[in-house]
Amino acid sequence: MANSLRPDGQRGFNYGRLDRALAAACPPPPAACSAEVADRAGGSEPEAGTGRGTEPNAVLNEVLILDDAELNNALMGQAISTIPNCGVCAFTEPERALETIRDDPGRFGCVVTDYEMPGMNGIDFVRKARAFDDFQHVPVVMVTSFDQRRIRREALEAGVTDFMAKPFDALEIRARLTNLLALNNARRIEQDRSAWLAREVAAATATIEAREREIVIRLARAAEYRDTDTGDHVARVSSLVRAIAESLGCDPGWCRMIELASTMHDIGKVSVPDAVLLKPGPLSPDEYELIRRHCQHGYSILEGSSSDVVQLAAEIAISHHEHWDGRGYPHGLRGDEIPLSGRIVAVADVFDALTSDRPYKRGWSKSEAVDYIKAKAGTQFDPLCVAAFLVREPNQQQRA
Ligand SMILES: [Fe+2]
Repeated sequence: MANSLRPDGQRGFNYGRLDRALAAACPPPPAACSAEVADRAGGSEPEAGTGRGTEPNAVLNEVLILDDAELNNALMGQAISTIPNCGVCAFTEPERALETIRDDPGRFGCVVTDYEMPGMNGIDFVRKARAFDDFQHVPVVMVTSFDQRRIRREALEAGVTDFMAKPFDALEIRARLTNLLALNNARRIEQDRSAWLAREVAAATATIEAREREIVIRLARAAEYRDTDTGDHVARVSSLVRAIAESLGCDPGWCRMIELASTMHDIGKVSVPDAVLLKPGPLSPDEYELIRRHCQHGYSILEGSSSDVVQLAAEIAISHHEHWDGRGYPHGLRGDEIPLSGRIVAVADVFDALTSDRPYKRGWSKSEAVDYIKAKAGTQFDPLCVAAFLVREPNQQQRA
């Protein structure tokens, strides 16, 4: 993180943890990000062709032919070789052909197989080949007799795409394979384009999320700049909030989101005058009322956002001073009326506030703070959140 992002230390702030979070959140510059995306996407959007990124003038299509008679393979290969930009890979043993397909299922643009072969017939061969990933859509032509209707039906069920009659005709082979190869190439192009689009969307989403995170952390920093003189309160609270949420068994994505959203729980304190916020002595009733309004002010700042994180932050801002027994503020909600997010943040916020030095008080020991949290389970705090806090912080008393 560039040093220029750090405060000048005039008020003794320490933003180490927030800065680290910010560094993790800051997306790379647009140019670098685009380059990375382009690199991952293979340099650019897939171009028309085979969809496999082949070089110009290279063999664009390779056809696997399988016949136990070498003479048939030679005749078939000769016919296929007249198709422009088309190569042939011939096998006389189905097992060897399957091994080759298994090693690179996307290698072949089309397969032509005989039906009658020793050891493994064409249908069994196709059935096994179709089991390989990325081979489900490769066209397969079976060479058979037109009068073998039962076999043809069975072959179709096994995954054969088309048939050619014996003895085969070279012109028919050329025309039929040209069509099938074109069809397969179109499918490959569409497949590559879909994958490229998915990568683009994922990269764009990651960029948006990183920028959202950065803005949230910067907002939290702005609010904290006016409040405490330690600078780490927000970072400690958000870390503890996530730990409690995880202990409660909340969805991992929500745990990450509440960790970020909770950094803005006191954003409304920007509306409280310094004379009140930083007053070293006891507050008057009017001054205390000004402090209490930070919940509503925070909600007003955050409400109505289309961002899930900011929506959750608004919920936390308005609810983190509610008490389980209904004696909190600003609305006097009780029990489950209080959003879970607010109940979790309440525990973490009070624990950290108790253990922190403030202009008007010295921080408590951690054991004293843990005792307070435990004593307030069921009155100030949700008992389940307190239990989760104690599970995730089992060593608090030992560290005190
Ligand atoms: Fe607060």
